[in-house]
Amino acid sequence: MKTFNDYYNNEVNLSFDDHPFAQEPKHVWVICRFKNQWLLTKHKDRGIEFPGGKVEDGESAEEAAIREVNEETGGIVKHLIYIGQYFVSGKGGNIVKNIYFAIVKEVREQQTYYETDGPIILLELPDKIKTMPNFSFMMKDGVLPHSLNQIYQLSEFN
Ligand code: GTP
Repeated sequence: MKTFNDYYNNEVNLSFDDHPFAQEPKHVWVICRFKNQWLLTKHKDRGIEFPGGKVEDGESAEEAAIREVNEETGGIVKHLIYIGQYFVSGKGGNIVKNIYFAIVKEVREQQTYYETDGPIILLELPDKIKTMPNFSFMMKDGVLPHSLNQIYQLSEFN
């Protein structure tokens, strides 16, 4: 278990065990790879981030992950791998979020990208995301680097 503070100084607990905080979390976050590049989205308020969001009623977390990638980027997920889970305790309440790694086979142009401006494809993730105002706060704590370390060890990553 790793514990650190996020961009807003809320405490984050991160684990790569099998669903340590909630069997059915209400939030998902999906680190996406498309043609050996990173596939992100640009949230209208928060800025550039990997896609994700809330699990809807009657939906599994995996279904939410696949849907959110599609809604926010137009990406069609070919392969979805559970990476870990984190727990954020903030002033506005507590949330538990599943982290996934997704291989995306295709990015289709969409009529709407919901609360985002659509896909952002990057060959490399910048080293200095923490200092970049165009990136979302979600990309600025320990969740991203620790999750990437897990992903680099997967045989599906290349
Ligand atoms: P809506 O109900 O859609 O308006 O959502 P919300 O803005 O109330 O946020 P949500 O329920 O998704 O999350 C509540 C709070 O948890 C946010 O304001 C953030 O402070 C925090 N939070 C949500 N997701 C993350 C995340 O991925 N990382 C971190 N560090 N904090 C998060």
